[in-house]
Amino acid sequence: MTARYPGALGAFPTTRLRRNRFDPWTRRLVAETRLSVDDLIWPVFVCEGEGLCRDVGSMPGVQRHSVDRIADAVREAAELGIPCVAIFPETDPARKTPDGEESCNEANLVCQAVRAIKGAVPGIGVMCDVALDPFTSHGQDGLVRGGYVVNDETLEVLCRQAVVQAEAGCDIIAPSDMMDGRVGAIRAALDRSGHGHVRIMSYAAKYASGFYGPFREAVGSGSALGQGDKKTYQMDPANGDEALREVALDLAEGADMVMVKPGMPYLDIVRRVHEAFGVPTFAYQVSGEYAMLRGAIDRGWMEDRIILESLTAFKRAGAAGILTYFALDAARRLQK
Ligand code: PBG
Repeated sequence: MTARYPGALGAFPTTRLRRNRFDPWTRRLVAETRLSVDDLIWPVFVCEGEGLCRDVGSMPGVQRHSVDRIADAVREAAELGIPCVAIFPETDPARKTPDGEESCNEANLVCQAVRAIKGAVPGIGVMCDVALDPFTSHGQDGLVRGGYVVNDETLEVLCRQAVVQAEAGCDIIAPSDMMDGRVGAIRAALDRSGHGHVRIMSYAAKYASGFYGPFREAVGSGSALGQGDKKTYQMDPANGDEALREVALDLAEGADMVMVKPGMPYLDIVRRVHEAFGVPTFAYQVSGEYAMLRGAIDRGWMEDRIILESLTAFKRAGAAGILTYFALDAARRLQK
């Protein structure tokens, strides 16, 4: 807020900001941001087997669905008006290898789920991660040579993974691996293979965060990773300027949308990216954030209105949309 017209902001007692808060209709009238179902992307987990909906222990209310069940779950989201879902696989450990070759198998869980969803619920957008961690025996997002996750060799696998997913019908490719140059390489690979309309939402500013813990349980990559970490490719939580550089590079390489992740502890980054670039900027309210909020609600430590409050905070910070495990819950609350 600028003091362009000195005095115009008034002073007490003539000016009383509480007047605009007096009744519900004025509060609605002066609201600066509005959360809508159109802002939500729902991350869903897919698992092996048939007829299964298996709970994720550290994410109460979140389940992994087998391929034959995934379309029903997604149909519910579509009926609530949610525009897009993001698919994550819990790969059978027997299929995991050091090079994560299963990521490029056109019959892997992700591709099967995409086909099932596109066949049954064609109107909903489908987004897929590009990264090797659900498929590698070491749980890292790329190929490991001499204990180091190598960049350029990994790019080649990521490009194949992206094309295989696009071929299955994926609408948005979301590189979450944080290798340098991956957006440009993937854009070129998609264009070369006739998938010029497939969008890229890059996990542009993705931090090496402890808030991914429950997700790693859900997809089974945590046990593979063990004591390892991702600090040689994911960003240092201490850095903000570097996030702008990451975003700038991804946009230059052809990203259509960018993402900041995690969400709530990084709202300053969401705001800075939105202001600096004015491009569709998304935030991921990650598994650990969900677990904290859900856990506190379930114990009666906080009221469930923190769900919409937390999502509104992303909009206020400048986010175009939010990936959230609360998507169905939030969509229902927004209907009331
Ligand atoms: C894979 C990936 C991760 C998440 C999304 N894609 C985990 C990680 O990088 O270790 C985290 C999502 C969440 O915590 O909800 N690279």
